[in-house]
Amino acid sequence: FDMTNREKFRPVYHHTPAYGWMNDPNGMFYKDGVYHLYFQHNPYGSTWGNMTWGHSTTTDLVNWNYEGLAIKPDAWGAVFSGSAVVDYDNTAGFGKNAVVAFYTSAKSSPWGDTQSQSMAYSLDNGKTFVKYAYNPVVTSSKRDFRDPKVFWYAPDKHWVMILAGGQEMDIYSSKNLKDWKYESSFGAKQGAHGGVWECPDLVELPVEGAKEKKWVLICNINPGGPFGGNAAQYFVGTFDGKKFVNESPTQTKWMDWGKDHYATVTFSNAPGGRCIALGWMSNWQYQTVLPTLQYRGSNTIARDLTLYRQDGELLLRCTPSPEIEKARMQKVSVPSFKVSDSYDLASLLEGNDGAYEIDMTIKNSGASKIMFTLSNDKGEKVNMYYDIMRKQFVMDRSESGKVDFSVDFPAVTVAPVYDTDNIRLRLFVDRTSIEAFGEGGKFVMTNQVFPTEPYNKMSFVSVRGNFTVKSMDVYKLGNNK
Ligand code: FRU
Repeated sequence: FDMTNREKFRPVYHHTPAYGWMNDPNGMFYKDGVYHLYFQHNPYGSTWGNMTWGHSTTTDLVNWNYEGLAIKPDAWGAVFSGSAVVDYDNTAGFGKNAVVAFYTSAKSSPWGDTQSQSMAYSLDNGKTFVKYAYNPVVTSSKRDFRDPKVFWYAPDKHWVMILAGGQEMDIYSSKNLKDWKYESSFGAKQGAHGGVWECPDLVELPVEGAKEKKWVLICNINPGGPFGGNAAQYFVGTFDGKKFVNESPTQTKWMDWGKDHYATVTFSNAPGGRCIALGWMSNWQYQTVLPTLQYRGSNTIARDLTLYRQDGELLLRCTPSPEIEKARMQKVSVPSFKVSDSYDLASLLEGNDGAYEIDMTIKNSGASKIMFTLSNDKGEKVNMYYDIMRKQFVMDRSESGKVDFSVDFPAVTVAPVYDTDNIRLRLFVDRTSIEAFGEGGKFVMTNQVFPTEPYNKMSFVSVRGNFTVKSMDVYKLGNNK
């Protein structure tokens, strides 16, 4: 977007629409070396409306190319969120290897709002779509009934559709993608219910260090997130092609511990058996008033999902997809240093344009808090710390730059930490966001920030005791454009 970019806040290695409003990622699939991302888009304005699927592609999950508008509103209504599959065996009869997209047709009328599921197919690898002549394919009397995610369930040789119906997830099955049979619903008395459930996903993931696999049901919720507004919770359990069973019903599990991670879903057919997720990096609390001028909305960096066992519970590990390492352009290694009181790094990078990664390991020797602050010459700053007693990682963006556009923006977010002796943290900073990955993705915290100039200083403070920053690599990240 270099030619057209007039936006100083535009991230460098995150996907954004060239112009206009964006919310959820939609229809993500991988085929022939290309990742496709569609997105909830208002091509004509800076706030929500005219919902259309915009389309971007990438081969490396970092450099994105805008491909145009893929699916536009019609008589059935606006085009809300959904998914896409590659129909390798031509089960629907649209053609071998057709890309089949599922989305919610949402219509407001004086007689009430309706939401139903429609489909469209593409014979040119997702560039252009033909709407199915007999839409909609799934209807309901529920008022909130949307965001179909479709995938192939190999053991039963059938397709599965999971969609959000109010505060539960409804599961359907089909042999031909056109005729759908209701199978089950999941959600009563499970997890967080502070808002409407949206944008589901259901994926089978390997459990680290074991031969077993488990199913993970991703459930985005708005509001009702741990820090206000939206968030993504998940459930771990079994799925037999028709019914999902949650195996730890007493605990609410969050995918990300920041305020700006929502509508997260995964790519169909990701290569090498990987499960790759992308979220919308924002929050409905303030998305319409973000201080950007040319576009509104960005995605998180891509994350690979696996399961690990912690104190008997199966939890999601979200690691930055390794492709991000190809965006490294320059490396500064800070020699090991000890912090008994405080320690300042006056400059992180020369010519810092606000897009970088900090990868550090810290050895604690009795400190009760390990604190560090990213800041700029204007005094705008983001305070972060590990609270050793509470086993928490905390990020405070209340003085991070522009914050006064919404009372819900200044915020402190908190994530659980397991190992407080040997700390590893990767911070991805990209002009208007910080994504913190701790303990190899055991926790992730995603927060937007709007500093008026890049944070280029970092200071460390220890509270009681001391700690050693054993390694600290700062990488300038670019998008090779
Ligand atoms: C989630 C959501 C979806 C819906 C879409 C509309 O952010 O509310 O449930 O399909 O946005 O743009």
